[in-house]
Amino acid sequence: TNPQDKKILEDREIYLRMYVRSAAYFQENFVSSKGGMQRKYLLDRGVSPEMIDAFQIGCSREDWHGLEKFLLSEGYDQDKAVTCGLLVRNDQGKVYDRFRNRIMFPIHDLAGAIIAFGGRAIDSSEPKYINSSETPIYTKGKHLYGLYQARRTIVRDKRALLTEGYLDVVALHQFGFTGAVGVLGTALTQDQVKRLGGLCPRVDLLFDGDQAGLKAAVRAAEMFLIQGIACNVATMPEGRDVDDVLHGQGPEALGKILDSARSGLEFCVQTISRTYAPRDIMDWVRRFLDSIPGDDLRAYYLPRLATGLGMSETELRRSRFTSASSSVSETTGAS
Ligand code: CTP
Ligand code: MN
Ligand code: MN
Ligand code: MN
Ligand code: MN
Repeated sequence: TNPQDKKILEDREIYLRMYVRSAAYFQENFVSSKGGMQRKYLLDRGVSPEMIDAFQIGCSREDWHGLEKFLLSEGYDQDKAVTCGLLVRNDQGKVYDRFRNRIMFPIHDLAGAIIAFGGRAIDSSEPKYINSSETPIYTKGKHLYGLYQARRTIVRDKRALLTEGYLDVVALHQFGFTGAVGVLGTALTQDQVKRLGGLCPRVDLLFDGDQAGLKAAVRAAEMFLIQGIACNVATMPEGRDVDDVLHGQGPEALGKILDSARSGLEFCVQTISRTYAPRDIMDWVRRFLDSIPGDDLRAYYLPRLATGLGMSETELRRSRFTSASSSVSETTGAS
């Protein structure tokens, strides 16, 4: 290997070691008096000690230099800690801890290495969550929260549960739904879809019961369907998420919600025909069908879409091509 590659690999190892040590530091805070408030917060929300262990949950201190001092005391380089996103250097050159006074959720890669953190405030500080920035060891949208803990169940059951939040994943695992993973902040990405699809042929979506959750669920369902991955969408009660349901009503209630989940295609069609204008519905159908990479898969969805939309297949096919060409002639007419 050339010296530059060697340097990159060596740095990567140092970053990963820093993340292991930081997670240990956060866990130690959590059980010491320094983490009393955070621990009480989590236990009050019903998170079990077993889950705190399994997900290596910890907390950062109310201290701008807590982790910094710890890492320097262990001989790590300040610049490297900035580069891998544990510390921040501001415009004035001042260095401080990125995460302060938050419950810390380590994010693992599939092999179990800690590559990032999510941190939840326990007071009303904004934002509620802070996540690691992009770093040499972490690319946003490539990972799923809990996949390391869920991978065996997912492969065994040939099925994954996909939810929005850190605490949704933790609650699902706690109540026995151990094939659960979380999206991690931003919208679901193509990489995440492929990653899950590579492990199992079916994904159940359990997004929050609010407008944002509904929109996210339609987008996510589309993405799985386009890749030929079966998906079901469970709808949470208005204003609630999985964590609320599990801790508020128990696992049987969630089981019922899961049993009544609609197929992804049905869910998309129903949500779209309920909330979109007719023209936008046809735009959605066209975009959806055009995104499907294979004719067989398209042929599979076509009659199901037609039934869902109350149209004949012929109508659907025609509108697909007619609308596309009419928008071309519109453009031509305007020029
Ligand atoms: N999220 C984030 N940054 C924010 C808000 C949310 O990264 N400012 C991500 C987190 O992964 C969070 C998920 O989006 O877990 C879902 O957000 P939300 O529903 O607001 O939070 P919950 O997970 O329900 O957290 P809690 O129950 O503690 O309120
Ligand atoms: Mn939400
Ligand atoms: Mn939520
Ligand atoms: Mn929640
Ligand atoms: Mn909540």
